[in-house]
Amino acid sequence: MSVESIVQSTRIVLASRPDGVPTTDNFRLEAVNLPDPADGQVLIRIIYLSLDPYMRGRMSSAESYADPVEIGEVMVGGTVGQVIDSRHPGFESGDYVLAYAGWQSHAVVDGKLLRKLAPAAAPLSTAVGVLGMPGFTAYSGLLKIGQPREGETVVVAAASGPVGSAVGQIAKLKGARAVGIAGGPEKCAYLLDELGFDAAVDHKAPDFAEQLGAAVPDGIDVYFENVGGAVAAAVLPLLKLYARVPVCGLIAQYNDSTAPEGPDRLPGFFSRVLVKSLTIRGFIQGEFVSEMYEDFLRDVSGWIKEGRFEYREDFVDGIENAPTAFIGLLQGKNFGKMLVRVAEEG
Ligand SMILES: NC(=O)c1ccc[n+]([C@@H]2O[C@H](COP(=O)([O-])OP(=O)(O)OC[C@H]3O[C@@H](n4cnc5c(N)ncnc54)[C@H](OP(=O)(O)O)[C@@H]3O)[C@@H](O)[C@H]2O)c1
Repeated sequence: MSVESIVQSTRIVLASRPDGVPTTDNFRLEAVNLPDPADGQVLIRIIYLSLDPYMRGRMSSAESYADPVEIGEVMVGGTVGQVIDSRHPGFESGDYVLAYAGWQSHAVVDGKLLRKLAPAAAPLSTAVGVLGMPGFTAYSGLLKIGQPREGETVVVAAASGPVGSAVGQIAKLKGARAVGIAGGPEKCAYLLDELGFDAAVDHKAPDFAEQLGAAVPDGIDVYFENVGGAVAAAVLPLLKLYARVPVCGLIAQYNDSTAPEGPDRLPGFFSRVLVKSLTIRGFIQGEFVSEMYEDFLRDVSGWIKEGRFEYREDFVDGIENAPTAFIGLLQGKNFGKMLVRVAEEG
């Protein structure tokens, strides 16, 4: 099929690099005409854009595990889209696909980089959430590095989000005790009432450290590190002998441009690592994809179908609202997997 008229993409580009907390001035809305797809390429309309904390790192030029977005370039991001025009033999108009197409309404993408989605198998949005990158991050980091055993205590923060909520539920399915840390009573109630966590602690409470200590009377065997900062400082003294710490994310520190004030905590940290024989291991989920992705899809989709696994999504409508939603995500304003509904599915 060929498209007669020119397709325009409405997109959000990086206008400037933030110094500290990002503002909407760091982004710019643009409209551009897209070229026709060349051989091997596919034109898609984007339905869902996933907003994820790692995007803060891409806005910065500081060294990271991936290159930054350049000024004037489209913000990167995982998307669910639908094929409008295809010059790749594996795709035809109407197919739903997972693409890394970024913050825009339409894109011409390399067919080799797409994965076809089956809308009858699972809601399309889950391909960038519970059955996508965040769900896989939880599954791989917890099982490969955390290795929770029956009866052990697993603690995770950002626990109502897509990574943390999956960590706690997988820990429970493996027979461990799950303790979630979240911001505010509503999120804590969700952990207990909907997700089946054994305890939930509000990190905004003035006596957070004491409440956390009370929630883990036997100490912590696995701390799935999502936030760093003050939460990590409260967790460290509670880690047991041979505790494992998969270091997944440090969202409390993503906006910092200078080292925190106060005493140097590094010697105390390393002495804890030594005397408690801790295993602290950073990871980026991509390292485990070839080894574990099939198992992840089978296990988590099976648990969802059996009614043993819950997930929550938080939608905002319109690509123009992506910057505000993203800034809110960094501040904990999201409640569940943050998604932009760029267009309707049908
Ligand atoms: N290593 C990897 O491959 C990989 C892959 C995906 C994600 N990650 C990381 O995993 C973590 C969770 O990601 P997600 O997508 O599931 O995010 P998310 O939970 O949907 O959103 C981030 C949450 O972090 C919490 N938060 C923000 N600032 C905080 C602070 N100062 N102290 C404590 N909590 C704070 C907020 O929840 P509250 O309201 O509960 O505070 C906020 O809702 C992030 O650090 C992310 O970078 C890593």
